[in-house]
Amino acid sequence: MEDLKLNINRIHPFIPRTAIESMMDETVRCLDDLHKGNVKGSEFLGWRGFPSREGRELADLVEQTIEPFREKADIVVVTGIGGSYLGARTVIDSLSHSFASLKGENGAPQVVFAGHNISEDYLSELIEILNEKSCVVVVISKSGTTTEPAIAFRILRNHLKMKYGALESRRRIIAITDPSEGALRRMAEEEEFSTFSVPRDVGGRFSVLTAVGLVPIALAGLSIEKLIEGACRLEEVTGRDTAFIDNPSAMYALARNALYRAGKKIEILATTHPGMFYFGEWWKQLFGESEGKDNRGIFPAAVNYTADLHSMGQYIQEGERHLFETFLTINSPDRRLLIPREEIDSDGLNYIAGKRMSHVQKMAESGTMLAHYDGGVPLLHIEIPLLNEYYLGQLIYFFEMSCAVSGMLVGVNPFDQPGVEAYKNNMFALLNKPGFESRSGKISARLKD
Ligand code: PA5
Repeated sequence: MEDLKLNINRIHPFIPRTAIESMMDETVRCLDDLHKGNVKGSEFLGWRGFPSREGRELADLVEQTIEPFREKADIVVVTGIGGSYLGARTVIDSLSHSFASLKGENGAPQVVFAGHNISEDYLSELIEILNEKSCVVVVISKSGTTTEPAIAFRILRNHLKMKYGALESRRRIIAITDPSEGALRRMAEEEEFSTFSVPRDVGGRFSVLTAVGLVPIALAGLSIEKLIEGACRLEEVTGRDTAFIDNPSAMYALARNALYRAGKKIEILATTHPGMFYFGEWWKQLFGESEGKDNRGIFPAAVNYTADLHSMGQYIQEGERHLFETFLTINSPDRRLLIPREEIDSDGLNYIAGKRMSHVQKMAESGTMLAHYDGGVPLLHIEIPLLNEYYLGQLIYFFEMSCAVSGMLVGVNPFDQPGVEAYKNNMFALLNKPGFESRSGKISARLKD
């Protein structure tokens, strides 16, 4: 079977070949240090090798555990934020029918998300829908204390209790959290929820191939076995036995950092399948939260073509030349649809009559790449043969490895996120959370500025 492919040829002539050569040794060292565990944040390297070490066994356990939940749910509400949300959403959105909500029954419950915002309208509307449907809740929080999912979970728990009574409501909850600590773990034990653990040594944004992603993805009726197989394959491809030059994760990390050092501070991930919108969101979180610290890091942005060619396309073509673009394309679609011929060619489309839509899409992709390149945008290109669980598994592991090496090249700890605390501290002070009262007056006064 073919693997994911990376092409970095179109970063030239924007940076000279010597710039790549001169970063080779440094990147080899970073990769070697990553393999040895000699890296800042080394206590969070549990994602490395997780698919082959534990993934297959975990996938079996997940399938067995979720069966009774799947049977009784029309709707599964997955409650989490950041790394406890985006991975599952990415895989489910990428592989679901584009009109799943209109299509009705397909045997699997519909998966929806909560706890990734604090919108009163959003959650009220969700409860309105849940009133009419049978539902189960999967609550995911490694720390077990994150405010957004905690609020949503409290409201959803109340909904379940009122609807099903105390005992049955507990049987409709799966909690995924720290193996032994935190408020959610304590509650799960007291209330006897079904539980899975987030390994201590795996950070949120690197956790999609653990129970954090596997449980919701399996509940959506997708194959977590194939997802894990794809990730295992990329473990091999990016492993110690592969020559550096054949390791796509290392080469991607090298290329994007060579561009960054040449002044290209923004990377735009361009996806071309509408279902891949959330892949861009997951990727932005992975790289943004991992690299954006100590006043450094490539700014990750994402677009979805061809829709965004009619908005951001203008900037990318002719705006400031401080960016580069990474195309993520899929070679073959799942379905087949031909453009019909019409006797009277009033819309002028007969020149492509009889062609598959995917052929037109390919030409749009290639045309865009060349136009952007000619407009001064260095290009990286990642291709997968098909959009399915196996190749999403490859992509996820590919980007996780790349992100670790890239963070090392940037010179930061890729596995922490100290900056996320700043907004929380202000919000807690404004809400008079116990322990934050002393800051409340000062911060409330600043709101009047
Ligand atoms: O990548 C990360 O570590 C974060 O994005 C977390 O996943 C996010 O803050 C949610 O944290 P928790 O799972 O503890 O609720």
